[in-house]
Amino acid sequence: MSTDIEQSIAAVIAKSGGLKPKIGIILGSGLGSFVDCVQDAVIISYGELPGFPQPGVGGHAGRLVLGTVGGTPVAVMQGRAHYYETGRADAMKTPVRTLAGLGCDTLIVTNAAGSLNPVAGPGSVMVLNDHISFTGVSPLFGEPGDDRFVDLTDAYDPAIRATLHKIAKGHGITLHEGVYMWFCGPHFETPAEIRAAGILGVSAVGMSTVPEVILARHAGLKVCALSIITNAAAGMGDTGLSHQQTMTNAVVAAETVKILLVDFLTNQGR
Ligand code: HPA
Repeated sequence: MSTDIEQSIAAVIAKSGGLKPKIGIILGSGLGSFVDCVQDAVIISYGELPGFPQPGVGGHAGRLVLGTVGGTPVAVMQGRAHYYETGRADAMKTPVRTLAGLGCDTLIVTNAAGSLNPVAGPGSVMVLNDHISFTGVSPLFGEPGDDRFVDLTDAYDPAIRATLHKIAKGHGITLHEGVYMWFCGPHFETPAEIRAAGILGVSAVGMSTVPEVILARHAGLKVCALSIITNAAAGMGDTGLSHQQTMTNAVVAAETVKILLVDFLTNQGR
């Protein structure tokens, strides 16, 4: 285990009074307000956690929040590092391994994404069932040992997906499902890239999530990923793309994600 991971685990244990999180959650752009749902919150700035990111994109606060949601102990990352910030695909290695080392058995990853599905418009939510990487890189480059050959079959836990669909139905929420394609960013995709993605069966595109999913599967965690749809993908909508649009359109979908996750976490262990 690297020193950063050991030090971060120790720092979290010291600050949180030994609360053992069961589920780790990474909040994407526009989803930061989910931390308001965390009860008895202990807030730790990433600055106190070696190897955690100091995010540079608006909307990311850079703190780890420990507490409970619906009685389930959680560790919530408000802010992530992206490949496009440093050119390092393993930028989330220490955080994901810290969550695993603290005792999390599941990682829920959220992101903002552009949609290729005309029915899944801005403001809607999509649970991911698989991914395609358009980047050609892995967060496990340089990783020693045979367990680096991670099986990504059913990486997006089918049982959790089924539970979320059930929860969504109970709340009258339309929960879309599809394949996510990881582009490196920070530029948005071209319309030609989006047409290619469509031919490959992609439903949503974004600049995050896949490295964390691979790292989490490598660490033995179950994974669930939710995209909030902030825009039609490049060339498919009436307007151009901007980060401002992402943040504005995230608000409605973020509320839907809150409902889904609070219910999911409330029913853990029942
Ligand atoms: N592409 C990539 N990332 C995104 C998008 C998009 O259209 N929308 C929000 N994040």
